[in-house]
Amino acid sequence: MPKVFIMGGMGHIGGVILDLLTRSHPEVEVRVLARDQDKADKVTSKYPRAQCVIGDFASLDLIEMTCRGADIVINAGPDITHDDTLKAVLQGLQHREGGSGAKKPYLIHTSGAEQLVSMLDTAVHRVTAKLVLSAAPQVKVAILAPAGVKGISPSVCHPLPITMPAILQCVRAFKSPFMICEGENAVGMIHVLDLARMYTVLVDDNAYYFGSATDTPYRRDWMAGLAPLLEKHGVVESGCTVKSVTAAEVARRVLFGDDYDPDAPPPPLDSWATHITHGLGANLRVRGSKMRKLGWEPEHLSYFETMDEVIPAYLEREKETAAK
Ligand SMILES: NC(=O)c1ccc[n+]([C@@H]2O[C@H](COP(=O)([O-])OP(=O)(O)OC[C@H]3O[C@@H](n4cnc5c(N)ncnc54)[C@H](OP(=O)(O)O)[C@@H]3O)[C@@H](O)[C@H]2O)c1
Repeated sequence: MPKVFIMGGMGHIGGVILDLLTRSHPEVEVRVLARDQDKADKVTSKYPRAQCVIGDFASLDLIEMTCRGADIVINAGPDITHDDTLKAVLQGLQHREGGSGAKKPYLIHTSGAEQLVSMLDTAVHRVTAKLVLSAAPQVKVAILAPAGVKGISPSVCHPLPITMPAILQCVRAFKSPFMICEGENAVGMIHVLDLARMYTVLVDDNAYYFGSATDTPYRRDWMAGLAPLLEKHGVVESGCTVKSVTAAEVARRVLFGDDYDPDAPPPPLDSWATHITHGLGANLRVRGSKMRKLGWEPEHLSYFETMDEVIPAYLEREKETAAK
């Protein structure tokens, strides 16, 4: 019976992988890294066949030991700045139970398409990606680099896209939809359910796979398309036009929202605020064509239909959190 260890299995992406694996592969033994008992209980009450290992990305010995007993490790947690965690994963996979007679272990690693497209060593995700690739050929590795991820996930902890809080915080602070400069950048998008199906068809060694289903319109048309939904759900007043702003203004509003101080220092380069601002202002035109060659096809295409579900779900969760 294949043993799969999922890291980040409670996340927006990892939660669907867990859901899909337990439903479509009942023969698989699944272990999930959970940061605390409460999260572990949520996972096992929804997926009684899953086992949880309590720890985080700093629990290097635990991660190495768990990987020693796994056939496949799926990392759907954060990748950058966690190189020691990945070294523990690779150490565990390279010294698996059963020694050299055991079947070749497999690591499916989630990266990010931002700044990776150039494959330059200075690109944010590239350092970690090179570390993962260095484990081949002893370990079979695949790197999946999603573009923008949309849609509602069955995750027990993070059902909504990771980008929602930053985007809505900026929309509220600007009191309108916004674009960086003229919004002439486009970003590929993929529904989280389509993305999860990519993990199940990954078979090649030592390769990058971009996770994208569509090349979306320019950001200015994307924000213009979002405007009626933002109005419909009461995030902005009616009649708003798309505001042109600078990247620095967006980065500061991701951090401070309405409390905008133009003299505040810009957020650090390796911060989430800078990362998401880059994603909102840069081109990210990837198509997932390599996955299509493996037989994968997206099923969920309309971004705006997805957002008509996601925005009210996000607002509802925000209300619940404020009431606690
Ligand atoms: N979503 C996107 O648009 C996108 C695009 C490109 C790449 N990616 C990559 O995919 C990754 C996952 O994205 P996501 O949207 O699924 O994020 P998410 O919803 O925030 O999920 C992240 C998961 O990782 C876990 N985690 C975070 N830090 C951890 C730590 N120090 N120790 C143990 N677990 C930790 C979280 O655990 P808790 O549940 O305990 O918080 C959660 O289960 C991202 O970090 C990024 O590298 C995402």
